Amino acid sequence: MGKILGETLISKEEIADICKELGRRITEDYAGKQVFLIGVLKGAFVFLADLARNIDLPVDMDFISVSSYGGGTQSTGVVRIIKDVDQNIAGKHVIVVEDIVDSGLTLNHLKQLLSTRKPASIALCTAFDKPERRKVPIEVEYVGRRIPDEFIVGYGLDYDGIYRNLPEVRILREAAEE
Ligand code: IMP
Ligand code: MG
Repeated sequence: MGKILGETLISKEEIADICKELGRRITEDYAGKQVFLIGVLKGAFVFLADLARNIDLPVDMDFISVSSYGGGTQSTGVVRIIKDVDQNIAGKHVIVVEDIVDSGLTLNHLKQLLSTRKPASIALCTAFDKPERRKVPIEVEYVGRRIPDEFIVGYGLDYDGIYRNLPEVRILREAAEE
């Protein structure tokens, strides 16, 4: 069954407000410190760029790449590191930046892995969250927006590799639903 773009769930303006608010909270919570953002590729690259520009602190950043959905819309449950961070994170205030939390498997795994490297602190930040879909309990300190159980695309999020460049978040629908 073909997939087509459905309605806009989160507009460009709402996304800008979300980034502003999360940046403000992080700036306040980490006052006097330097933060180390770790973006989860590929999806988080758009959000990380906006978030970083809303944090009024010294910000260093790096990226990590993990295996994700293989062309479909269901998580395989397998989390595999494809590209690790290049830098040593020991003693740093790490914030892992994700596009969306679904089952929670990715962030849960990453938090455990990165914690073994002795960062000064580690927090999780996601643009979007689908709490209904959680398979493992996970505390995410910074959540941009909770959304219902829908498959979304845009603002870094893809379906089969495309739609990441959409400036707003849209719902992906079955062609027959329309
Ligand atoms: P989790 O490990 O199940 O929490 O999955 C998180 C990852 O699944 C995200 O980083 C996305 O790459 C992908 N994902 C989950 N939900 C969606 C969605 O609605 N649209 C696009 N990608 C999604
Ligand atoms: Mg992802």
